[in-house]
Amino acid sequence: MNFCNLTGKTILITGASSGIGRQTAILVSQVGAKVIIAGRDEARLKETLSMMTGSEHQLFIGDLTEESSIFELAKTVPEIDGLVHGAGIVGPTPTKFIRQTDIDHLLRINFETPVLLTSRLLLQKKLRNKGSVVFISTIATRSPYFGGALYTCAKAGLEAYSRSLALELVKRGIRSNCLQPGLVNTPLISQPASEGQIEMVEESLQRYLQKYPMGVGEAIDVANVILFLLSDESGWVSGISIPMGSVMQ
Ligand SMILES: NC(=O)c1ccc[n+]([C@@H]2O[C@H](COP(=O)([O-])OP(=O)(O)OC[C@H]3O[C@@H](n4cnc5c(N)ncnc54)[C@H](OP(=O)(O)O)[C@@H]3O)[C@@H](O)[C@H]2O)c1
Repeated sequence: MNFCNLTGKTILITGASSGIGRQTAILVSQVGAKVIIAGRDEARLKETLSMMTGSEHQLFIGDLTEESSIFELAKTVPEIDGLVHGAGIVGPTPTKFIRQTDIDHLLRINFETPVLLTSRLLLQKKLRNKGSVVFISTIATRSPYFGGALYTCAKAGLEAYSRSLALELVKRGIRSNCLQPGLVNTPLISQPASEGQIEMVEESLQRYLQKYPMGVGEAIDVANVILFLLSDESGWVSGISIPMGSVMQ
C-alpha cells in the first residue's frame, strides 16, 4: 500500500524551524516530497534539514511579517503542489489591555502573513492545479480561553479565509483546509514558562485537561493529518476546519 505518498510533489512549509512545521517537514520528506522549509532562525532551520530524508530540499530564511520577505519567498520557490502555513505566535492579551500594537503583532504573522503569502503565490502562478493549502488554526476558535481574544480572532479569520479560498480555487482542483488543534507539546507553549510561572502553568494545564480529556498532543499528531490533507487521498475534502484533541464537534 502506498497511502499518502507524496513522491513527485513539492511542498512549501513555513514555520519549519520548530514544532509542528518542523515535524511536518520531516514527515513529508519521508514519504517522498521535495520540501522548501521557511523560518527566521537559520541554525534551527538547518537542524530541521538535517532531520529530513532526501537531498533536494531548499531553505528560505526570512521574517514573514515583512512583505518584502513574502514577495522574495514567492519569487524564489519553484512551482508547488502543497502549502502549509505553520508560522505563528501566541501572546496573552486580556481584552481590557488590548492596544493597537498588540493587534498589529498578533494579527500580522497569524493572519496577514498566510493571506498575503497565498495571494502572492497565486499571482506568481506558483501553486499547481490539484494543489492543497493547509492552515493551522486552533481549537480555541470553538471554545475561548482567558487572554485569547486576539489570537483566536486571527485564527477565526484564517478559517473564514480558507473557506473562501476553497471556493475560488475549486475549478483548478486546488483544496484549502484548516486544522484546529488543542494544546500541542511544542516550544510555542513550553518556552514562555519560566521558573516562577511553573505553578500557574501546572494549574492551567489541569484546567485544560478537564476541558479536553484527550490530553496534550504531540507535533506528529498534527503532522499526520497535515500529510493526509496534502495527499491525493484527501482529494474530495476542501473548505473544512478539523478539530483535533477535542471530542467537541
Ligand atoms: N502548539 C500549540 O499548542 C498549538 C495549538 C494550536 C495551533 N497552533 C498553531 O500551530 C502553528 C505552529 O505552532 P508551533 O506550536 O509549532 O510553534 P513553534 O514551535 O513556536 O514554531 C513557530 C514557527 O513559526 C515561525 N515564525 C514565527 N514568527 C515568524 C515570523 N515573523 N517570520 C517567519 N517565521 C516565523 C518560527 O520561526 P523561527 O523559530 O525561525 O522564529 C517557528 O518556526 C502556529 O500557527 C500556532 O498558532 C499551535
